[in-house]
This record gives sequence, C-alpha cells and structure tokens, in this order.
Amino acid sequence: MCGIVGYIGSRDASEFLVEGLRRLEYRGYDSAGVAVIDRGAIRVCKTTGRVDALHGRLLSEPLPGHAGIGHTRWATHGPANDANAHPHVGGLGEVAVVHNGVIENYAGLRQQLEGAGFVFRSETDSEVIAHLIASCLDTQAATDAARANGAGLRRDVHASLVTAVRMALAQLRGTYGLAILFRDHPDVMIAARLGSPLVVGVGPQEHFVASDALPLAGYTDKIVYLADHQLAIVTATSLRITHRELGAVKPSVEVLQVDAGDRTLNGFDHFMLKEIHEQPESIRNAMRGRLDVENATATFGGLNLTPQQLSSVRRIILTGCGTSWHAGLLGEYLIEEWARIPVEVEYASELRYRNPPVDANTLVFAISQSGETADTLGAIREMKRTGHRTLAICNVVASSIAQEADGGIFLHAGPEIGVASTKAYTAQCMTLAMLALYFARMRHLGFEAGRRIIDDFQQLPDKLGQALQTSDQVRYVAEKYQHARNFLYLGRQYNFPTALEGALKLKEISYVHAEGYPAAEMKHGPIALVDQQTPSVFIVPRGFVYDKVMANLEEVKARGGPVIAVVQEGDRRAAQVADDVIEVPSISESLQPLINVVPLQLLAYHAALLRDCDVDKPRNLAKSVTVE
Ligand code: AGP
Ligand code: GLU
Repeated sequence: MCGIVGYIGSRDASEFLVEGLRRLEYRGYDSAGVAVIDRGAIRVCKTTGRVDALHGRLLSEPLPGHAGIGHTRWATHGPANDANAHPHVGGLGEVAVVHNGVIENYAGLRQQLEGAGFVFRSETDSEVIAHLIASCLDTQAATDAARANGAGLRRDVHASLVTAVRMALAQLRGTYGLAILFRDHPDVMIAARLGSPLVVGVGPQEHFVASDALPLAGYTDKIVYLADHQLAIVTATSLRITHRELGAVKPSVEVLQVDAGDRTLNGFDHFMLKEIHEQPESIRNAMRGRLDVENATATFGGLNLTPQQLSSVRRIILTGCGTSWHAGLLGEYLIEEWARIPVEVEYASELRYRNPPVDANTLVFAISQSGETADTLGAIREMKRTGHRTLAICNVVASSIAQEADGGIFLHAGPEIGVASTKAYTAQCMTLAMLALYFARMRHLGFEAGRRIIDDFQQLPDKLGQALQTSDQVRYVAEKYQHARNFLYLGRQYNFPTALEGALKLKEISYVHAEGYPAAEMKHGPIALVDQQTPSVFIVPRGFVYDKVMANLEEVKARGGPVIAVVQEGDRRAAQVADDVIEVPSISESLQPLINVVPLQLLAYHAALLRDCDVDKPRNLAKSVTVE
C-alpha cells in the first residue's frame, strides 16, 4: 500500500531507488528495502525505520548494479521488522518481489508452498508471491524444456517469464502492485497491477517503475499509467504491456505533470505547515475558471453529463473516507440548503457492501484526495456495476478513481505530501460549494442569491490568509493544554464537519484522543467525559445556532471543563465565558467552516510538535490507503 520503485538501465540502480523511496516517504511507512542484481545474484538490503537508515546501510555496504527494485512497507501482515520488510526473495534466490496491497488467500498458498519445500523467512502475505513465482518459473522451465526437446525450438525467454508470472498471479486473491526481478535474467523486470497503482517512466536507454509519479520527476517526463490486470515487461530499451484478457496493449505514453520542486519545503519546517499556508492559493486554484459571474453560477468542464441529465438529478450520494468523508458532510449541508437536492453521505467502506436502493436519477460523487483509496474505488465500482453514473472529486490527476469515474472535477490543490490532509480538505469543501451553487442555479436559486454566493467565494482566499495569522495564539493554546490526553471538538450545522475534522487532525498527528461531536448531541453521552483535564474546543460562529452552541458551551463550563472557543472576530460574549478564544475572520455562515478549520489544523500541528511527533509521517498511517 506504500511505495514501490524499480530501475533498469545504465545508472547505479540503488541511487535512483533510494531517491525514489525518499520521494515516496510522504505516503507513510514502517520499513524500507532494496534488491539489486549484481554478478548473477540478487542482493537485498532492508531495514525497519526510515529510508535514511536504509541509505546509511547502503553507504557502508553498497549494492552496485543496474537493475533493482525498492519498497517502503506499510505493514498489513506481520509486524514492522527487518524480516518482514520488502523485497522478498523467492525459491533459492531466483526472484525478488516488492508488493503493495494484500493477498487474501496467502495462508492457504503458504501452506501449499511450504509443503512443496519452500522456506519462508517472513510473516508477510507478500512472501507467498515470491515463492509462487519461483515455483511457476520451475514449472515453466520444465514445460519449455519438454517443448524444446520435442520441436527443437528455443522459446522466447521473456515470454516464459511472463507466462510464469501470469500463472502465479492467477492464483492470487486480493490486490497488488508488484515489481519483480529475476536473478537469471538481469536484463528484464516485470511490473504488474491489480488494485494498487503503478506507473512506468520511459527514458532513453532506461526505464523506471514506481507506485506514483513523484519519483520520476527530474528523471523522465514520459510516463505510462498501468491499468488493472496489465503487466509490463521492462528492459532498458523496451517496454511491452500485456493485459490478462486483451493480450498485447500499446503503451500510452503521457507527459508527466509533476515537478520535483512540488515536494520541497520552501522554507517551512514541515509539509503539513507548508500545505496549511498554501490554502489561500489552493482555494484560488480550485475556483480558477469555474466561476461564471455573468450567470451567477459555476461551470465544470469534466462532468460529462448533459444539462438534461443534470437537471433530472433527484438525489446525490457523496462517498469517501476520513477527511474526504468530512468534506462530503459539509457538501451535504450546502447542496441541500442551496440546491434542495437530498444528499446522503456514505463511508465508502460501508457503501461498497451495503447495496442500498439507488434509483436512476441518483448521482454518485466519490471524493478522494489521492484517487487511490481502495474503499472509495470499491464503492464507485459497485455503483457503476449497478449502472449508476459516478463522478470523482479528486486531487491526483490520472489516479485510479479519476480514471474509472464517468467524469468529475479535479481539485487543483497541488501535491499534498503531509499525511494529514489540509489543503485538499478545503479544496474539496470549495469544490462541493461550487457544485452546490451549480445545482442550485439549475433549479430555483435566483440570480441575486447566486451572485452573493460568488462574492463570498471570492473573499475566501484572503480571509483564509488572515486566519493563518492565528498561528501564534494557537501555539499558546497548544502549550497550555499540552498535557491533556483527551479533547472534545464540538460544533453544529455547517461546523459539525469542522468539529470532526479538527478532532481527526489532532488524533492523527499528535496521538491525543479527540472526539468530534455535534455540540448539542454532547449532552447525550460525551458530556460524561468532561472534567478539568479534558478541554473542549467549541466552534461558535455567529449565526442561527449561535445561542444554542453557547448554551452547550456553558454546560461544559458548569462542569469544570476548560473551553477553547473558535469565534468570529469581535465576539465579546464567547470571550467572556471561554477560557481561551481564537478569533477568525467572518464570512457568510455557510462558508465559515472553511475559515474555522484553519486554527484547528494549526492546533493539531502545534500539539504534535510539542509532543515530538513526526508531523508529516505519523505512526501507523499511510497517505494513500490502497488496502481494504
Ligand atoms: C486525512 O488526514 C487522512 N490521512 C485520511 O483520513 C484520508 O482523508 C483518507 O484516507 C482518505 O484519503 P483520500 O482522500 O486520498 O481518499
Ligand atoms: N501486505 C504487505 C505486507 O504487509 C504489503 C504492505 C504494503 O502495501 O506496504 O508486507
């Protein structure tokens, strides 16, 4: 589920592999390793911990060679230790494999392979792939030998490798992105994909393999995205692709859009902080070219639906996971309020197996920063299978979800490297707000009301910029409560999703327990948690539930709970009751959540720093969750 890199050409393979793995670090991982073919042997170096540790080992024991594969692992089967780190070697060292994904039937396969004499060295599901391929190579070699004797023919060696790999893949149940090296064929590498992304970079006299485009930036600008069931046979000078059912496929070489500079810190201490500060710009980019001021609406190029199809939409399902699901919740409030279309927000992991009744006039939007989240992909496949139009709201162009959906909207937020999503969240919210306006203007929303919404949209980037100035004040609050082990985050209506998102951010990167709740629901249970050691973060913008949220805030104060209030500038009343107040600029009530979330992102950031946590690569998390 984490990172794969591969190289074949005339460079020193390890150098590219290590640099490539560094660029994939943002995806979150627990161990790293490389395998290189050197003088007729596959040599492996792997370790728990960071790519830096791997690099250190390679400096003291270099692995020279011009063909190699590398991996950052996010453990699914077996703890994070050196033995479980990839690459895994199969048979008696004939093959090395790096694997992203999960093999569901690994236990049975392992038993079978152990029975046949294969010796396992790890507890991973992935190692079965290495031995299975080694076993299929043996079978294939025997078949080739028999054929050669019978017909005096010598078979194309690469074709035999492909047949053996296909034979092995046919026995796997689950998902995989794979890069495979063969000890006896150092001139070739095979990559295969089912449900876990892989790309091939094409250079003059060299090829690269990676699980996303970032490692290729600066090495080549020609990229081929592999599709499910495709297998790439890569040598220094050639690239062939075959599909399980369709046979040979002509590689479609695209121009790589990523710039290696997108992953520099630009003077910030962490990517998360940089990305929080990029929000005024990423919001502008999300809006760019999409506001039709003349008609007081929004326009989208890629929905691929006729106006008739769009005006016949009677229900919308928004689906996603984690932060993207939170953005969906805000989308629900906005679309229902402005466009009066019923919206349901579904966890993708639930939707994919729930089989809800969905009628023909329902439109499904999958929301995903990475475009690779396995559950979200599973949900849209299920919706498509039942004949529903499925659109994507994605950040990563050419991602699996973007490709499989019938159409959609890109966020244009730029690469998000920090594992905790920040700028993608506000870009998702912005995109959903524009979508709400678009649907509303196709229905009953008048010109004037549409214009007012657009005016508010246009003020958002600057106000977001002003909200960033709360950082010092937020740091003070983080310091004050740095020993608290539990937090409550409470908000209502448009700011209920903000409360959920604020709590998720704190949990993710500082490992402090936090619960997000609708403020009024708190009294039905979580209020039992309130004590002097449990701060409650209230999001209390002015508006039609202001008095009610203030009443909830008083309830917490009455029980001795410290209160941190995120309020609009000049709110004296909240300031009198709360222990700490963070003032943010005001905008219309429905867009206020995009401003309010900024100090909550900063609060999580400062809390994590104070606790010495790795802000950009929090433990146990991966940036793109490509397993179920
Ligand atoms: C966000 O901070 C999280 N790391 C996580 O909840 C994330 O939003 C979720 O995994 C969905 O990812 P996606 O948007 O790439 O599909
Ligand atoms: N399932 C494999 C393992 O636990 C691969 C994990 C990954 O995708 O990084 O080793």
